Amino acid sequence: MIREVLRMGDPRLLQRSEPLQRFGTPELAALLQDMRDTMAALNGAGLAAPQIGVPLRVVIFGVEHNPRYPDAEAVPFTVLCNPELTPLGTELEEGWEGCLSVPGMRGLVPRHMHLRYTGFDQHGNRIEREASGFHARVVQHECDHLDGILYPMRIRDLRQFGFTAVLFPGEEVADD
Ligand code: NI
Repeated sequence: MIREVLRMGDPRLLQRSEPLQRFGTPELAALLQDMRDTMAALNGAGLAAPQIGVPLRVVIFGVEHNPRYPDAEAVPFTVLCNPELTPLGTELEEGWEGCLSVPGMRGLVPRHMHLRYTGFDQHGNRIEREASGFHARVVQHECDHLDGILYPMRIRDLRQFGFTAVLFPGEEVADD
């Protein structure tokens, strides 16, 4: 079921979410189905449970070809519960981000270029990966939602924040 995505200004987006306690439950399967449906309907690269009002440390992400990120490399579709991120090295990279909770806008956000992330899939199997570039960026963006952080809070120069249609005129991008 496609769920309503909370938008910036809603205090629920600013809360720290709780660790998932039980894996492999029908409730988690239903939550993940709703998250997949919602992300697909809005052409998102990822979605965090708190964005649909569920304060649990669960994110999904993945990009094949995404019209919102036409130049981005593919990222495998991933369900990640109770994630932990460890930066590898100190290198930061600025890149444009959008968010389904901040529709119609883009901002230039610094992120760690390389990182390791760990967590669990929906069945409780452990996930451990290293990622770089866009993949690493998507993971950092989604996991920030679990700590109540929205990407505009990380923009260093707010002149690099604006409406997608104005920043990138003529580009074929979705509304959000
Ligand atoms: Ni987001």
